[in-house]
Amino acid sequence: MSNSLAGRNVLAIGDLSKEEILAVLEQATRLKEQCDFGVAKFNVLDGYILATLFYEPSTRTRLSFESAMLRLGGGVISVAEAMKSSSASKGETLSDTARMVSGYADVIVQRHPAAGSAQEAAAGATVPLINAGDGIGEHPTQALLDLYTSQRERGQSDGLRLCLAGDLKNGRTVHSLSRALTHWNVTLTLAAPQTLAMPAGIVAELRQKELAVHETGDLAAAMAASDVVYVTRIQRERFADPAEYERMKGSYVVNRTLIERTNPSITVMHPLPRVDEIATDVDALPNAAYFRQADNGVWVRMALLSLVVG
Ligand code: NCD
Repeated sequence: MSNSLAGRNVLAIGDLSKEEILAVLEQATRLKEQCDFGVAKFNVLDGYILATLFYEPSTRTRLSFESAMLRLGGGVISVAEAMKSSSASKGETLSDTARMVSGYADVIVQRHPAAGSAQEAAAGATVPLINAGDGIGEHPTQALLDLYTSQRERGQSDGLRLCLAGDLKNGRTVHSLSRALTHWNVTLTLAAPQTLAMPAGIVAELRQKELAVHETGDLAAAMAASDVVYVTRIQRERFADPAEYERMKGSYVVNRTLIERTNPSITVMHPLPRVDEIATDVDALPNAAYFRQADNGVWVRMALLSLVVG
């Protein structure tokens, strides 16, 4: 099988064709099946090294990438609080840092608070660089695991009705996921308070690619007409004015009562971390897919690393 992803950067979801996205998801399924059969570790990346450079907080993304690399037989070097503890604090550019780290590792995973930072770093890197979130820009590997999860939970994507809910303005996961969905024949409802709506440029891009997109402020109605609701956190760290965050806080909550009233069979996803936008009384429902979604991050990132480095 030819692997067109070998040696490539993954900076935005648009860097991958539909076929390449499917190749990652299929590889993730194969790896998961083998692990379910009791294989705990593979040696396909034996001797290779992943460097994780995180200039912004992360639990799931960094640990699942590192876990993925270790399960593939590779090694990991890591700078967790890169803003403080790397040479960024001395004024080094992202491009210079990435160039150097390329001498120490075979693949780099970077998260940074500035949109466009992944492109900046990739300009200096001489090994593949994977964007693990660039400010309000994109989070392409989250989109891959979101697609993988929705397909496992609901079957094929074609025909699916998805509702993306919450802070669609600042949430990078929904920027990547909505773009990924343009490859399928889905109906997308964007449910957000007006001030947190999906950027008009992205909505235009989705429509230009002939995705059926509806915008609404009515979350209950949107849930009633969807198979999946993908809830997001209000991105507090992106608000210039703390008072504005306080005004928006708690403006939407998915709880058990809302699910039972609007759509008892809806699948509830969330990239996590959640604050209060999904009540904990949802966790025990079979609808709650968000912890399974987080688990899926390992298979999908194993798949991506094995294809990009392999
Ligand atoms: C998301 C992120 O960092 O964009 N987290 C994650 O990677 N699962 C979502 C968020 O922080 O709200």
